[in-house]
Amino acid sequence: MNRPARVIAAIDQGTTSSRVLLFDRRGRIRGSAQREHRQITPRPGWVEHDPGEIRDRVDEVIVAALRNAGLAGADVEAVGITNQRETTVVWDPETGDPLAPAIVWQDTRTAALARELERDVGARALRERTGLPAATYFSGPKLRWLLENVDGLRERARAGRAVFGTVDSWLVWNLTGGEVHRTDPTNACRTQMFDLRTLDWSEELLDALRAPRRMLPALAPSSHPEAWGRTTADGPFGARVPITGVIGDQQAALLGQLRRRPGETKCTYGTGAFVLMHTGREPVPSKAGLLTTVAYADGAGTEYALEGSVAVAGSLVQWLRDQLGFADSAAGVEALALAVEDSGGVVIVPAFSGLFAPWWRDDARGVICGLTRHADRRHLARAAIEASAFQVREVILAMAADAGASMPELRVDGGMTVSDLLLAFQADILGVPVVRPRCLETTALGAAVAAGLACGFWDSETDLAGVVAEEARFEPRMSRETRRERMSAWRRAVERSFDWVR
Ligand SMILES: Nc1ncnc2c1ncn2[C@@H]1O[C@H](COP(=O)(O)OP(=O)(O)OP(=O)(O)O)[C@@H](O)[C@H]1O
Ligand SMILES: [Mg+2]
Repeated sequence: MNRPARVIAAIDQGTTSSRVLLFDRRGRIRGSAQREHRQITPRPGWVEHDPGEIRDRVDEVIVAALRNAGLAGADVEAVGITNQRETTVVWDPETGDPLAPAIVWQDTRTAALARELERDVGARALRERTGLPAATYFSGPKLRWLLENVDGLRERARAGRAVFGTVDSWLVWNLTGGEVHRTDPTNACRTQMFDLRTLDWSEELLDALRAPRRMLPALAPSSHPEAWGRTTADGPFGARVPITGVIGDQQAALLGQLRRRPGETKCTYGTGAFVLMHTGREPVPSKAGLLTTVAYADGAGTEYALEGSVAVAGSLVQWLRDQLGFADSAAGVEALALAVEDSGGVVIVPAFSGLFAPWWRDDARGVICGLTRHADRRHLARAAIEASAFQVREVILAMAADAGASMPELRVDGGMTVSDLLLAFQADILGVPVVRPRCLETTALGAAVAAGLACGFWDSETDLAGVVAEEARFEPRMSRETRRERMSAWRRAVERSFDWVR
């Protein structure tokens, strides 16, 4: 009889769905499962998730992926977890019950608190310590909002009866049966409570945010054989499997694309779009509106990246699908876009949550510009797909300014990169080739790499080079002149989105 394959289970808890992928030693996917969870939008600008629902969906996809592969928990060598970042959860450490809805990274309710943090700490000091500007994106002000608005939460927190974590911590806590309350530096560095220079929580920032330190998770490396505990035997794995990798989703995609040398860059197009450039073992400050972020931490040390975050990319396609009813699927929206030659002069700036990099404008909101009697759904669909490419172009310009070098090609991944239309237009508007790897699930792969390196399943990530080898390459075809015109129209549209919320 054949012995079943040993696998690494990668849990990818994203903004819109949770999935589990089981990777064997050759990096092949032996089983997978995926389930969406609800996007709760109680008011304009608010976005919440139900932490209990997220926990349950994750449990379900673990069970389903194992079943789908014909494997048992005992066949899993180790677990790696990657997650939507910044989303903020508070729970009762006695019962494990969430004490409030999770406030999602896209939520803008903390605009005033973010400004207050900037005033108290100073914009420059804030950037120096955290690598981040003041914005609604990050967790610290979200935690402060909960402490100030959920009845009794502050008292509970002071008494040790409420704890905080981002989604990584919430999942680790649940999978280990409440034994482990930790987070890794790739997640911690998005809270605005973590000091990039000391790699520890900052008393000064905790004070500024009025956050009780005892609520916070302990820190542990992203990749470590022991730091993250084991799953419970009565949980979804049905076995005591070690968790050996925990890493935020965008840093996971960088690792999954095997970008570990300074200058190596990837862009992941999912709900949002996230460009990360590896910068080596020293944090590089940004002058151009990017984030300085931890890329990875293991026993050997800490690696850093520059990041340009675009809040809305694939979620604009979903918006056309769901809110405007353009099609039944994202692929249906792409088909509409493919039915016309161009966007007919229509430009969409999807500033649903303000604008992130490089603008950082909380006061921006979405606009559709250039409408004429000629425009129909097909032009809007096309403009929606082009919007991702324009935003990524802006971020890459900022990156070139910060790094003082231009990029020879862009490596891409994520669910939206099934769209050849997107990638061809991205190459056109960037003026450099765009390269799509064989495996588009690089986020999950990165979590598997973090876990698999820690437990010796792989010796080095280059064991997986074939998995992310080039599958398609898109060469730029657009003339300089056209590119300049299209970018200029985009910029004018961006300006029109500013200064909307007062
Ligand atoms: N054919 C397509 N054309 C354009 N966009 C598409 C197409 N297929 C999928 N998408 C978009 O890709 C996105 C899904 O990508 P992916 O599954 O990587 O998302 P994600 O960011 O990982 O989700 P999460 O935020 O849950 O992690 C959706 O927003 C969807 O609109
Ligand atoms: Mg994702």
